[in-house]
Order: sequence, then C-alpha cells, then structure tokens
Amino acid sequence: MGRFPRFGVPLVALLLAGGVFAASTIELEPTGNDPDNINSLQRGAKNFMNYCAGCHSAKYVRFNIIGRDLELSEDQLIENLMFNAEKTFETIQATMPLDDAARWFGQPPPDMSLMARARGTDYVYNFMKGFYLDPDSPTGVDNLVLKGTSMPHVLWELQGYQSATFVQDEKEEGTTHFEGFETVTAGSMTAEEFDNFARDTANFLEYISEPIRSTRRVLGVWVLIYLSIFLVIAIMLKRQVWKDVS
Ligand code: HEC
Repeated sequence: MGRFPRFGVPLVALLLAGGVFAASTIELEPTGNDPDNINSLQRGAKNFMNYCAGCHSAKYVRFNIIGRDLELSEDQLIENLMFNAEKTFETIQATMPLDDAARWFGQPPPDMSLMARARGTDYVYNFMKGFYLDPDSPTGVDNLVLKGTSMPHVLWELQGYQSATFVQDEKEEGTTHFEGFETVTAGSMTAEEFDNFARDTANFLEYISEPIRSTRRVLGVWVLIYLSIFLVIAIMLKRQVWKDVS
C-alpha cells in the first residue's frame, strides 16, 4: 500500500464522524444580519459592551477602529462604549479577571474577536437565543446549541426564561430531537425585540471578526479603476505598436 491510503483511512473516518456529528446537531436559524447596516452595528456594539464584555474580551479590537468604522465621535465612544477603558487605542478587555472567571465558570470565557468567524454568525445568534431552563445544570440553564455550557443565561432580564421540549425519535431508540421553546417567564423585551437585540449583537461580532472588510471593499473599487485605466493604455499601446506592421 502506498502512502496515500494510510492518510486516507483516518481522513474518511474523520469525515464520517463529521457527518454524524452534523446530523445530530440542531438546525440553526439564519441571523438575517447586515454587516453594512451601521445603526445595527452601533446597537450591537453597545449591547456587547453592556452585556458581554463583563466576561468576554475582544483583544484584537481597538475602540478607535470601532469609532472610525461605526461613525462614532470620540465623545460618543467614551460615553457609550468605553466603560472599562481610558484611551481610545485600547483593545476590549473583559472587566472580570480571567483567573476569577475560570475559577467561577470552570473555564475562562473565550475571547470574542474571532468567534463569529470561528463558529459562524448564525451559531452565535442561536447561542444567545438558545438558553432554556434545566434544573440539573449548575447555572439553572442549558443551551440548545452548546449542550452543558457553563455560560449562564446573562440575558434573562431581556428574554425571560424559556423551556425546551424534546421528543422521542421514532426511528432511533433513546434519542430525542428538539421540538420547540416555550416561554416560562417573560422578560422586558418581546420575542421580536429580543431577536433584534441578538441580531445586532451577532452582527457586531461578525464585524469585529473581520474589521478590514469595509476597507477591502473600498480598495477593490480602486483596483478596478486602476485596471480599467491600464486596459485603455494597453489598447492604445497595442495600436501604436501594430500600426506599422500591418
Ligand atoms: C457571566 C459571564 C459571561 C457573560 C456576561 C457572557 N458570557 Fe459568553 N461565555 C461565558 C463562559 C464562561 C463561556 C464558556 C462556556 C463554555 O464553553 O461552556 C462563554 C462562552 C460563550 C460563547 C462560545 C460558545 C462556544 O461554542 O464555545 C459565545 C459565542 C458567547 N459566550 C457569547 C456571549 C455573548 C454574545 C454575550 C453577551 C450577550 C456573553 N457571551 C456574555 C461567560 C459569559
């Protein structure tokens, strides 16, 4: 046997395992966010700083870059987003020391800089909406997209509490599938308002995971302009060169 099959077997096994894993995970509801919607990103930034940055850092993201991209003045930045930073060139640090967080939650809250890119925006959106009551969990809740998560339901005041219904699968013994959520206690927001809250926040997380996006698009336009001019020059040059030949 050559080299290839030896690599092939684990690879196929991995793909198969991936397939089985994917089949048993729940379907993610699309976020429907728009990373070009500056108002949504501004709201998302505020949501993140108010409800997430207590535990989660975004250590590759500087406030002044957020201010530039989200069209916020320095005063607006300081007033609305910089609760735990002094200078606009600072990055987003979690308020809670990482060691304490790790001790309390069993694991440190991950940095959010690249989360939306690593897991997908839809995953983050569904994760925020996926907390449901579970009396067996130390936090009192579990999450539909990350079973056994140690993150508490930090948005309970807004969303309220919901329960999840799982029904027995007919085909496979001992397995259940998710049927739906039911509100147990209402929060301060309607379901629609909470969806918008989660959508804006996920939108902001998508933006920070690729802040160069808007710059790149502007650059793309200039590259196209340059290429068009170059094309005209090339055509003129070709005519000049071939003029005497034909
Ligand atoms: C009280 C602290 C705390 C707050 C506040 C908090 N989180 Fe978390 N978060 C955690 C911890 C702890 C984990 C690690 C959980 C795990 O891996 O089970 C986590 C994990 C996550 C993950 C990763 C899930 C995964 O698949 O690994 C995402 C996404 C996330 N949080 C989003 C948010 C968002 C968005 C907010 C704000 C709305 C937020 N968190 C607020 C503590 C917190």
